[in-house]
Amino acid sequence: MQVHLYDSSAQVGQAAAILIGAQLIGKPGSVLGLATGSTPIPTYRELIRMHRAGAVDFSSAVSFNLDEYCRLPEQHPCSYHYFMRNEFFNHVNFAPSNTHMPNGNAVDLLAECARYDQVIAKAGGIDLQLLGIGRNGHIGFNEPSDQFVYGCHVVKLTPSTIQANRRFFDTEADVPREAISLGIGSIISAKRIVLLATGYDKAQAVCRAIREDIDPATQASILRTHPDVIFLLDRAAASKL
Ligand code: GLP
Repeated sequence: MQVHLYDSSAQVGQAAAILIGAQLIGKPGSVLGLATGSTPIPTYRELIRMHRAGAVDFSSAVSFNLDEYCRLPEQHPCSYHYFMRNEFFNHVNFAPSNTHMPNGNAVDLLAECARYDQVIAKAGGIDLQLLGIGRNGHIGFNEPSDQFVYGCHVVKLTPSTIQANRRFFDTEADVPREAISLGIGSIISAKRIVLLATGYDKAQAVCRAIREDIDPATQASILRTHPDVIFLLDRAAASKL
């Protein structure tokens, strides 16, 4: 694995945007795995800037987002659908039919999980997967567990994730208790994985993922088995390495 250190979260975002831009130049119809959360926001801003400057074109790219809360309306400002439209899709030239997100409001959530995995497989899998990392080492919403779950699935969010994501909602009671997440199998099947981590509150998770045993208690540790994984870290996130 490669680990690159930067002085600021803005630089981490620039580096990630360069990798995504280069991916699209090399293969304009790339399938991108996209992430939400505050960490990738500088990456999306930089990609928007590069797109406006004429350097990056999303017109034939395809995207699949990692996850979505269950039973939160898509129009809710904390939904990941809203986040992606607001932070990224509305500002670049993706064909709307090429952007995919799991439907956390599906009547049959298990059927939705199966459908989402099938659409990804039909698209040929993910070329470049962008990831953040939870304070508890989760990727997507794959929470600490005694196993790695291969396929897309419905997750019960842990108290630590509910607490971490509470900052986006009015009260803790408003944070959804469940989410749909891409499984570890689809993530690890991506041809290239780029994980971003910024800030001291990620230092412990980053250290466990990189230095400790590969263990589902730290889901990100599985990334070490991947042949092309790049961690882009600011100095705070790397401070416990
Ligand atoms: C959320 C998302 C993850 C994200 C993580 C970190 O729960 N499901 O995909 O990587 O938490 O978020 P942030 O970047 O806001 O710290």
